[in-house]
Amino acid sequence: MSCLINPSSQGMLLSEAISSIDFELPCSKGTCGKCKVRVIDGKVSEISRDEKKFLSLDEIEKGYRLACFTRIYSPVVIETINKKINVLDEGRYKKFSFKPLIKEDKYAVAIDIGTTTIVINLLKGDSSHAVNSVGGVNEQRRFGLDIISRIDYSISYSHDIIHEVVITQINKMINSLCKESKVDNSDIKYAVVTGNTAMLYFFSNQNPKGIAFYPFSVNSLFGCFMGNNFGLNMAADGKIYIPPCISAHAGADLTCAILASSMLENDKTSLLVDMGTNGEIALYSKGIIRCCSTAAGPAFEGVGLNCGSTAVEGAICSVKYDKRSKTIKFKTINNNPPASICGSGIIDAISVFLSSGIIDTTGRLIKEGHDFVKNICEINGQPSFKFDNSPVYITQKDIRQIQLAKGAIAGGIDTMIFEAGLNAGDIDNFYICGGFGTFLNIKSSSNMGLIPCGIEEKVITLGNAALQGSSLIALSSKSIQECEKIVRMCKYTELADSPVFKEKYLKGMSF
Ligand code: FES
Repeated sequence: MSCLINPSSQGMLLSEAISSIDFELPCSKGTCGKCKVRVIDGKVSEISRDEKKFLSLDEIEKGYRLACFTRIYSPVVIETINKKINVLDEGRYKKFSFKPLIKEDKYAVAIDIGTTTIVINLLKGDSSHAVNSVGGVNEQRRFGLDIISRIDYSISYSHDIIHEVVITQINKMINSLCKESKVDNSDIKYAVVTGNTAMLYFFSNQNPKGIAFYPFSVNSLFGCFMGNNFGLNMAADGKIYIPPCISAHAGADLTCAILASSMLENDKTSLLVDMGTNGEIALYSKGIIRCCSTAAGPAFEGVGLNCGSTAVEGAICSVKYDKRSKTIKFKTINNNPPASICGSGIIDAISVFLSSGIIDTTGRLIKEGHDFVKNICEINGQPSFKFDNSPVYITQKDIRQIQLAKGAIAGGIDTMIFEAGLNAGDIDNFYICGGFGTFLNIKSSSNMGLIPCGIEEKVITLGNAALQGSSLIALSSKSIQECEKIVRMCKYTELADSPVFKEKYLKGMSF
């Protein structure tokens, strides 16, 4: 896609000028090298030595630049590459008593503002299921892929900008739902809006600074009704409900996921993990929900990895070792030619590398003594594994990034199990939710130690549990009390302060 960018001041960075278009800036700090654009026309700064490190000679010759490094001195025409991302809008409904917040002929919307995607369910007062739904990539990604980058942006510039982007996007999505379902916007009487605490701060236009810095103070943890204060495209007298967050780092999305899981409806010991950029973990045992949030970082979404990407077309999403033919086979999203590797592909690849001796348990790439010596090469000065017939490779540094992310999730899970005085074998139900978690190969995850060994059989995949939880609130008014009860039962552990976590995290980094 090519577009014209007009700088508002001479010499401004292209990454700042580009914020008016839908373009991803994964780090917006000049560290990831993923903001490639081709400059077709216009006056721009000379390419710097630092910028060159991210581009091949061929790319430089073709006019590729990085938006974070390039200053523009005139209107410029650039070409961007947009790939379609898979959005998870499905999940399981638990049994519930149908008593909606809305009258039979009126509507509500349940909105899940995820760090990566936004998904909306349209609900009607006479139906216990969503009548329609819509999902899309969260347009805030242009301010950074992870929460901290976006908070940094809001501190440097203003949180108003991010608030406007999120409201505009939600309004467009509500309009498309209404148009498709032939519903009048004014018939939408309720919106239930969930998300992690930072996303809800941006939605409600509050300064999220306290969420990013110790001691992590927050002005509000929500759990409240309000009027249509932010101009949502629904009834002017409509109401918005934001379910309660548990802490600065365990948001209303975790509350909603716990609600949707039905884990409190029996005496079983249940573990719930939402594996996102922030891994949110809840362990229910003997009347207490122990929970924490662990900064896995965006490596599972491919960010920071040389050939990493989110679940876009052409991303390697599954890798298998065929012992008989001694080959490594892979599949890509929509069977497009391989161009990158996404989280589920990386987990499979690491598991295959371990089983076939390509890496050892410390994560070191082994150069000899296995069937894939020909795939080991040096790329950018790093020992790397290159997939056959594909430009995709995994470097030693990429494996280290995955170890850090895996250590964070496994360490968080182990800390909760330790604090509850349990062993992994005591867990009766293991709920996995979120986009990345839903498409994970459970066997590979267990093989590489991302999830505890021996509980693979107990896995229940919930899909987009945060969205299902927020839909339940709209469809069953009793859910509001349940959310309040969930928050009261939660005992939150700040992992940054936990010596147990430090130990488990280090242990969790080995495969
Ligand atoms: S280098 Fe520009 S977004 Fe990361």
